[in-house]
Amino acid sequence: MTRKILMLPGDGIGPEIIAQAARVLAACQTHGLDVEIDEGLVGGSAYDVHGEPLPAETLTKAKAADAILLGAVGGPKWDNIEDISKRPERGLLGLRKELGLFGNLRPALLYPQLAEASTLKPDVVSGLDIMIVRELTGGIYFGQPRGIEERDGQRVGFNTYVYSESEIERIGRVAFEMARKRECRLCSVDKANVLEVTMLWREVMERLAEEYQDVELSHMYVDNAAMQLVRAPKQFDVIVTGNMFGDILSDAAAMLTGSIGMLPSASLNENKQGMYEPCHGSAPDIAGQGLANPLATILSVAMLLRYSLDEPVLAEKIETAVGLVLDQGLRTADIASEETDSVSTEAMGDAVLAAFESLYQA
Ligand code: IPM
Ligand code: MG
Repeated sequence: MTRKILMLPGDGIGPEIIAQAARVLAACQTHGLDVEIDEGLVGGSAYDVHGEPLPAETLTKAKAADAILLGAVGGPKWDNIEDISKRPERGLLGLRKELGLFGNLRPALLYPQLAEASTLKPDVVSGLDIMIVRELTGGIYFGQPRGIEERDGQRVGFNTYVYSESEIERIGRVAFEMARKRECRLCSVDKANVLEVTMLWREVMERLAEEYQDVELSHMYVDNAAMQLVRAPKQFDVIVTGNMFGDILSDAAAMLTGSIGMLPSASLNENKQGMYEPCHGSAPDIAGQGLANPLATILSVAMLLRYSLDEPVLAEKIETAVGLVLDQGLRTADIASEETDSVSTEAMGDAVLAAFESLYQA
């Protein structure tokens, strides 16, 4: 059965890194992967053409795809668009919401070859392997009412932090199941000392824990979790948290690994349809210069193959190939230490492809 992949390069460095990931996908096709690949516009580049960050055509294609591979959206060019519903980021949020991609998996894995690239001491981060499970279609990002309005002669901005029991339960299940496949330790992050919505969150997690007796559940307030991530990150196995806390903590966790340029992510719905993207943003400051690290996007292809297309062998080969190029000492600028010369986006792509092919020759 031919499956469909939609590629959405987006803005900034998006097109450059997607180009390298596309080469890896093409190589998979030569090794038996049966997929049909289409492309679409999202974010600022879609706004420029259609006046919308998520054109109807893109949404239709996305709904029909088994998996979506996204680069990144946003940039200063579009920061001043008055109507916030037209900003590039809304294209991304719209895709998440419309496809019901509530389960966001953000692994923070330290490649041993890069221990020196972390800003933390090597012994604090070596062996680090955390999985952050972030709720992605609810919470304060989407809660109503929201807006900016005039009240008593001044403007007031407001958002609503809301979660229903069913929303908490379904992300909780994703996290408990994930913990089961790993070290069976789950830390739920909340702010239950202040916010009612997260008191309910904690209650639902406790209730679920009774069904998952083999998983050890703990709770942590988000401020402490931020501190623990930089103090002793190896204490974590799986972290589950809401949309906004997950946004913040996943950036912090990413940096522990040396570079956010290494980290892929998956966003899944109930049918295993998924959107895959690097955790980093569109990095407009380095766009078009061949400086971007394509590895997070290439590793996102591996996640896509594993979670949406059920192709674990190809996924593992891609991950092995990335390990091999790191062994060879290849580094893009973000992960290069001063002694090593850095290679371009495309040269990194070349090296991954060569390493991938070498795995078939052995
Ligand atoms: C992320 C990004 C997005 C988010 C932005 C671009 C809307 O920071 O995927 O982490 O806040 O979710
Ligand atoms: Mg973020």
